[in-house]
Amino acid sequence: MAEKRRDSFKSNLGVILALVGSAIGLGNLWRFPYLVGTNGGAAFIIIYLLCILFLCMPIMVCEFVIGRRSQANTFGAFKKLAPGTGWKYTGTLAVITCVILLSFYVVVGGWTIDYFIKSLRMVFTPETDFATEFNNMVSSTSENVFYTLLFLVCTAGVIVAGVKNGIERTNKYLMSALAALIVFIVIYAMTLPGAKQGLNFLFHPDFSKVTFRTVLSALGQGFLSLSIGCGAIITYASYANRKDNLLKTTTITTLSDTMFALLAGMAILPAVFSAGMDPSEGAGLAFISLPYIFANMSFGKVLSIIFYFILFAAALSSSISLMETVVAFLKEEYKKSRFGSMLIMLGITTVFAVFCALSFGVLSGFKILGFTFFDLFDYVSSNICLATCALLVCLFAGWRIKKEHFYDEITSGGKYKIPKWLLGTLRVFVRYIAPVIVAIIIVNSLIGL
Ligand code: TRP
Repeated sequence: MAEKRRDSFKSNLGVILALVGSAIGLGNLWRFPYLVGTNGGAAFIIIYLLCILFLCMPIMVCEFVIGRRSQANTFGAFKKLAPGTGWKYTGTLAVITCVILLSFYVVVGGWTIDYFIKSLRMVFTPETDFATEFNNMVSSTSENVFYTLLFLVCTAGVIVAGVKNGIERTNKYLMSALAALIVFIVIYAMTLPGAKQGLNFLFHPDFSKVTFRTVLSALGQGFLSLSIGCGAIITYASYANRKDNLLKTTTITTLSDTMFALLAGMAILPAVFSAGMDPSEGAGLAFISLPYIFANMSFGKVLSIIFYFILFAAALSSSISLMETVVAFLKEEYKKSRFGSMLIMLGITTVFAVFCALSFGVLSGFKILGFTFFDLFDYVSSNICLATCALLVCLFAGWRIKKEHFYDEITSGGKYKIPKWLLGTLRVFVRYIAPVIVAIIIVNSLIGL
């Protein structure tokens, strides 16, 4: 078969938007605010920022180097750069991680569509009991499974349209809409009576709440939020051009993701305080506390529609990256068509996702190691698989890729002259510091099983 030209993004902006789209997701809007809420407000943010700067960014650079240098999917990348070695199994682990992650991600993605539609139909009133409403939704077989599959099909639809016409274009629209809408909601949030309290909470550290666990969750959140550790960045980077400067792309992605997480906090926490609620509510924040708050505030109906649209758009742009990683793998390694690869991926994910969706209802009594399917998939992928892949990626980029090649990838493209000390420091982090810290996280998470 003649070798076809590989897919690629049209422009550098396309690469950046796709990476930002992958990074900004439920992690920022749903998980970040409640982690801040339960871990001492700004104290958590400070630790999170340090983790991002010193660990997550260097690892992201490594994924980028591997992807762009090899111009191949996650598995193919390791195979190409270290032929005849076992490194390629890092790619296998990355692909499996994507499947696990996507399987529970689409369930929450489904909830966002459900709540978006309910907001449009204006079914929520101040009298609604939102905890019961949420529990009924997740435990109902038909409703939960239907929306999970609907979300999955939306993701598959974008993937089939291809890298330029599907991924690049969708991310362009979704990210522009997201940026505009979140700013609008933040401005509105600043007019609420609880705005001052919310901002105080967000920007005043309470170090008494910080424990070793806080540091672990900050790092885990960094991986999840920046989409590190499952080959998604390797895959997107493989569609990038050598004219794009990799440090610039990494920095813009990280900054946008962090800004968005903070904006999400600035949008949500004032509303929580205005309603006299507790920000340490936990996972129910986005689907129980917020709809209650929306139902009880002026313009709440419109805000609710906007908020669930934002949540949906962010979730979709992220799930696209997870599916594309596996589709690129099937397409290139098994020489399948894009459509065929998508169907295979859709089939596999449907099975797992349905199990995850049902674990709130009919399968709630079915537990593995004390976890329901959903919780197990969440725990294993976020706490173990992502970190393990990240560790292998670091070791690969630090010890296997030649120093000249590593530096060459980082310095190529753009008009910037990257100082030597920065390159050297980066390499020390990648070779020694990041692997040790990530290994500690993995051991800790395994103990928690
Ligand atoms: N970053 C996304 C979020 O914040 C989740 C995500 C999408 C992800 N693709 C990923 C996480 C790849 C790890 C790896 O919700």
